[in-house]
Amino acid sequence: MILAIAIVNRGSPFYFWTTPKGLCQNNSSRCPPDASALGAFLVGRMPRHAPLLGPCERGAPAPTVRNICSGTGPKGLVSTEPGAALRIAVLGDLHACFDAEDVRLLDAAGYDLIVFVGDLAGLRLRSTLAIAEVIAALRTPTLVVPGNHDAPNAMQLLGEILHSNALIRLADRDTEGRADAIAAALGPAHLAGYSLHTVAPDLQILVGRPHSMGGEELSFAPFLERRFGVTSMDESAARLCALVEQAVGPNLLVIAHNGPSGLGDRRDSIWGCDFRKEEGDFGDRDLEQALQHAGRLGKHVVGVVAGHMHVRIRGGGERQTRVERDGTLFLNAARVPRIWNDADGRAVRHHLALRWSDGTLMAREVLW
Ligand SMILES: [Fe+2]
Repeated sequence: MILAIAIVNRGSPFYFWTTPKGLCQNNSSRCPPDASALGAFLVGRMPRHAPLLGPCERGAPAPTVRNICSGTGPKGLVSTEPGAALRIAVLGDLHACFDAEDVRLLDAAGYDLIVFVGDLAGLRLRSTLAIAEVIAALRTPTLVVPGNHDAPNAMQLLGEILHSNALIRLADRDTEGRADAIAAALGPAHLAGYSLHTVAPDLQILVGRPHSMGGEELSFAPFLERRFGVTSMDESAARLCALVEQAVGPNLLVIAHNGPSGLGDRRDSIWGCDFRKEEGDFGDRDLEQALQHAGRLGKHVVGVVAGHMHVRIRGGGERQTRVERDGTLFLNAARVPRIWNDADGRAVRHHLALRWSDGTLMAREVLW
């Protein structure tokens, strides 16, 4: 708890990618102070080893626009006409910063799809359910990728931080019940994980491993085994690679709670470790392997959007939020808190806006 208090206030300056940083200093007092701070703390464990995989083998196949499917996808989320632009809003780790005004603004903006990359609140299920009920009011089709705070309890999180399998298993009580309660509270919003969703005639979304906590170990392994039949990081990678193979078209957009490994091992890398002196890569190895597999199969991963590793980093400064590599746009959406007050006391609300059109993915940071 003392450590958690010590890193309170991970507010962040914000910027548009097309303009310099530091337009406005985050001094949010709008969101519960415990949620983001404890969330940041509970990101928390360094992998015992964080192997970096070899260089990506894929080339950068030119994206094409083809009418490869018709109607709605497996989950009936979104269907647009061939050639029509698809607009997606992505909200990073909420940590309780989401309210009825967000619902009103997002629905009014006319997005085709809204994506939440997890960590709806903090340690209390009641808070998570309250946020889920607000999300349920969205009229726009919505996908939610559960984070490490969504269903696991505080003792499970502590067990993961301490690498204590005994505590992880001892604390693993009714995790399914909490996950089911969150899914029910989300109403029409879809709680996704290890899944494929057709969102446009020429684009599918692949949702990565749910409840990821980063690092080399599989988070909440007993729960993942019961819920998804996945018992190890290698099995999780195989599960994601199988989804890549099931994708029916050439273009994939990947969303996950935590991003892939292989994008840097510095504290300010897009998914780098900022809570240990030795720094390191805290991305997910299974997701990196899935991306490599997509490359081998000639699939074009147009973008990877995730959160978990908050943009403002310990010790000061911010991490990278955008990386382009081999034709893939990697985005970290976890600006925490995502609602803050500007110098005039006006609430500022953050999300990412993606636009898929003519075989091209574009992204920008939006502040309302
Ligand atoms: Fe997280």
